[in-house]
Amino acid sequence: MATQSCAHRRVPQFDQARQLALLFQAVESARNGIVITDPNLPDNPIIYTNPGFSDITGYSADEIIGRNCRFLQGDERDQQAVHELRKAVKEKTSVTTILRNYKKDGRLFFNELTISPVHGENERLVAFVGIQNDITARIEAQSRISDFYSVVSHELRTPIAKIKSSLAVIAEGEAGPVSDAVRRFVEISIKSADSLWGLIENILDFKKLESGKFRLILQRLAMAQLIESVIAGFEPVANRASVKLKYQCLASPAVNADGQRIVQVVENLLSNAIKFSSKDSEVTVRLILRDSWVRLEIIDTGVGITESDIPKLFDKFQQLESPDRRMRGGTGLGLAICKAIIEAHGGQVGVHSTPGQGSTFWFELEQAL
Ligand SMILES: Cc1cc2nc3c(=O)[nH]c(=O)nc-3n(C[C@H](O)[C@H](O)[C@H](O)COP(=O)(O)O)c2cc1C
Repeated sequence: MATQSCAHRRVPQFDQARQLALLFQAVESARNGIVITDPNLPDNPIIYTNPGFSDITGYSADEIIGRNCRFLQGDERDQQAVHELRKAVKEKTSVTTILRNYKKDGRLFFNELTISPVHGENERLVAFVGIQNDITARIEAQSRISDFYSVVSHELRTPIAKIKSSLAVIAEGEAGPVSDAVRRFVEISIKSADSLWGLIENILDFKKLESGKFRLILQRLAMAQLIESVIAGFEPVANRASVKLKYQCLASPAVNADGQRIVQVVENLLSNAIKFSSKDSEVTVRLILRDSWVRLEIIDTGVGITESDIPKLFDKFQQLESPDRRMRGGTGLGLAICKAIIEAHGGQVGVHSTPGQGSTFWFELEQAL
C-alpha cells in the first residue's frame, strides 16, 4: 500500500537500484541534518546520520550511531520541545519544534527539528526520521531586534517626552519672555520632536502588531459622529496647508470596533491626503454603506500614485516618492499599521489612484446589527 502511493514520485526511467542510490545520495548531500532512528530497538537509537548532521553538531557518525538523540540536550531536559517530542514518539506521530541543543564543542545552537514516523508493510512502524535545521542565526537576529525595541521604548521615549514638555513650557512663555524669533525656532523644534515621537509610537505599535500582542477593545461605535470629530480636530492642520476638508456623510451606521484604533487609521489617512494635496484643493471624506459594509473613502486631488507603486503602498517601511519627485516625510509605517488595524477588525483597506488626478484611500468594516 505504501509502495503504491509513492510510485508516482519515482523517476520512471530508473530501475529500483538506481532509484535507491539516488535517494541515498540526495539524503547524503542535504545541508539539513537527517537522522533515522529505530523505535523497535531499546531506547530508539540512531541507525543512520547524514554528513549534514555532523556539520551541524560537530559529532562524527561513529560518535552518534547507537545513541538516543537526547545527548544533544545536555542538562536542559525540561524543555517544552522535549515534552512534545516524547509525546510524538509515544503516539507515533509527527511534530515540528525548536530545541536548545549543544554541539560537541559545548556551543548552544537552536535546532528546528521535525520528526516523522516511517511505516513499512502493513503500516508497521519501522523507523523515525528527523530533519534538523540550525536556526541559531535567525533566533539571535530576533533577539537583537527585541533588544532594539526595548531601547526604543525605554531609552528614547522618556528623553523625548521631556524635550517636548520643556519646549512647550518655553513656547508658552512660562519660563520667561520669548521673542518672536526664538518662538519660531522653538515651534520648529516642537514639530521635530512631535514627528520623532510619532515615529517611536509607530515602531512600538508595529512591534505589537507583528508579535500578536495587539489587543482591540471592541465597542459599538457610531461611525458618522466619530468621523465628524476626527475631521473637526484636523481643521487646523488642513487650514495650515490651505486644504479644504469636506465631509459627505451618506449613512449613519454603527460598527463594533476599537474607537481609538479607528481614529488612528482615519487620522493617518487624512494627514496623508492633506500632505499630498496642493494648496487650495479639497479633501473629501465620504461615509457610505455598501451591503453590510461600512465604507470610508478619503478622496484627494493630489499628485496620485503610479500603478506600479500601489502594491507596495501598505508594506512596512515603504516611502514612496511622489510623481513630483518629492518625499513627503512620514515613517513609512503608517499605512502598514492602518492595514494591520483594519484587518485585525476583519475589514479591508485599499486605494485607487490616477497619477496627476488624485487618490482615494478606503477601508471597510462590517456593519454592527
Ligand atoms: C528521529 C528523531 C530525531 C531526534 N532528533 C533530536 C535532536 O536532534 N535533538 C534532540 O534534542 N532530540 C532529538 N530527538 C528527541 C529525543 O530522541 C527524545 O525523543 C526526546 O528527548 C524525548 O524523549 P526522552 O524523554 O526519552 O528523552 C529526536 C527523536 C527522534 C525520534
